[in-house]
Amino acid sequence: MQMDGTFNAKGGADAPFYLAQGDECDVFAAAAAHRLPVLLKGPTGCGKTRFVAHMAARLGRPLYTVACHDDLSAADLIGRYLLKGGETIWIDGPLTRAVREGAICYLDEVVEARKDVTVVLHPLTDDRRILPVDRTGEELVAHPDFLLVASYNPGYQNILKTLKPSTRQRFVSLEFSFPRPEHEIPVVARESGLAEDRVQPLVRLAGKLRAMKGQDLEEGVSTRLVVYAATLIAGGMPVERAIRAAMIEPLTDDADVKAGLRDLVTAVFG
Ligand SMILES: Nc1ncnc2c1ncn2[C@@H]1O[C@H](COP(=O)(O)OP(=O)(O)O)[C@@H](O)[C@H]1O
Ligand SMILES: [Mg+2]
Repeated sequence: MQMDGTFNAKGGADAPFYLAQGDECDVFAAAAAHRLPVLLKGPTGCGKTRFVAHMAARLGRPLYTVACHDDLSAADLIGRYLLKGGETIWIDGPLTRAVREGAICYLDEVVEARKDVTVVLHPLTDDRRILPVDRTGEELVAHPDFLLVASYNPGYQNILKTLKPSTRQRFVSLEFSFPRPEHEIPVVARESGLAEDRVQPLVRLAGKLRAMKGQDLEEGVSTRLVVYAATLIAGGMPVERAIRAAMIEPLTDDADVKAGLRDLVTAVFG
């Protein structure tokens, strides 16, 4: 704490808001202290990205987030030569930058990335902590504060997109799920500005929608979508309309399933 009562960045007072569900902050901090990579498992929109942003700020480390997609290659992470004014210059990718500077590199939805990405991660996630940069001939030893964090969604039905045991067994892993109602209500209220007593039925509805996972819905409604609905309602949109736009339509394209979901809304809101 400084004299004027504010915290510096390392103190974490400026950290993005994150309401802990359990001991995940302690586990993450311990893993970071011991330089162990961390894997966050959980459905989309349950707070993984927010958690990493929060912890990076608390630990006072820069954060490089990479949203992985099926075209993402090792070169995108490591870097490449670019032509600039007739000269070729080397540009570090986000992983290389994090390795050099001692930052957190967060690979969001890591299973989406191309296969050559996991090859790069292996020497970085054992006790060598090295990143071979083939193109420049360098072999970088990671800065002591470098931390690799990855996330993935084990709920996806796509069998090709699960993490291989040889990769997953290199990470300390934390399981995330949707917050319990007593956590989700204050989170949604804070994020949206809608009063808690008005958020409460939205969270109740979310619970019912999540119970349908595996029957009619591939995934339950995310906390992110509940925040969207509450934000629209706080902005003056009628409740029914906001729910349809933010909590029903995003979940399914099937008319019969939608009709079933609307019955649930009626059951909750009367
Ligand atoms: N525990 C939490 N504390 C604060 N906000 C949360 C929490 N869980 C979910 N949220 C909210 O849900 C939104 C989506 O979370 P996000 O971290 O983007 O999900 P994920 O990365 O798991 O897909 C966040 O922007 C935030 O508004
Ligand atoms: Mg995310």
